[in-house]
Amino acid sequence: MKTRESGMPEEALWETFFDARRVLAALGFGSEVRSVAEFGCGYGTFTMAAAEFGAAVTALDIDPQMVDRARARAVAAGLAGVRCELRDFVEHGSGLADDGVDYVMLFNILHAAEADRMLAEARRILKPGGLVGVMHWNYDPTTPRGPSMTIRPRPQDLHHRVLNAGFDRATEIVDLPPYHYGFAVRKPALKGLAEAPNSLPALQAALLWSGISRPPLPPADPLP
Ligand SMILES: C[S@@+](CC[C@H](N)C(=O)[O-])C[C@H]1O[C@@H](n2cnc3c(N)ncnc32)[C@H](O)[C@@H]1O
Repeated sequence: MKTRESGMPEEALWETFFDARRVLAALGFGSEVRSVAEFGCGYGTFTMAAAEFGAAVTALDIDPQMVDRARARAVAAGLAGVRCELRDFVEHGSGLADDGVDYVMLFNILHAAEADRMLAEARRILKPGGLVGVMHWNYDPTTPRGPSMTIRPRPQDLHHRVLNAGFDRATEIVDLPPYHYGFAVRKPALKGLAEAPNSLPALQAALLWSGISRPPLPPADPLP
């Protein structure tokens, strides 16, 4: 199901709203990012920028016209590492493996009612230590596009929501003029293992910390 208020204007207008490479650079995206997933690629505005940084990009969208357009742009630019797929990621997830990608792009999409589901899917497919870049329209009714104010997230609220989905802060909220803000968060790495990889307490701490395991319950009180 297409998420609420996720339609697009004409491509030429959409492209005037962003300096895509600058957005990515501000959201922790550098040449060390080798693999990317994009939830809702639209015209491929950020697909192209990520691929131009040298990353392999899996770009997902529910709209066949968007997928065709993003794919055509990548082919025309000779960017062989771009895979555009027609997919409903709300209904079916991304289809990507656990712990597999370095970066997930969630741009202009988290006003969706299913935002928490998307964040859980992003966390699942990210490598430990990988980043999510979040960008959205300013909380300002005068922006030329963007979801209605009743569902448009405020920057601080969105930041809290994303952190509460099991991520660590990677950047502060940054202004992305003229109409957007954004931030990056990090999937926790398995702490403890790097320091003492062979120690059982370190392994237990790492599993606990990553949410894979729960502490054993304390022994029950003896029956009277
Ligand atoms: C507002 S556009 C943003 C496009 C792109 N992220 C950008 O910022 O340029 C949202 C995109 O998400 C896609 N979309 C909405 N619901 C979807 C779903 N359930 N599965 C896959 N794509 C979806 C829409 O077709 C649209 O292209």
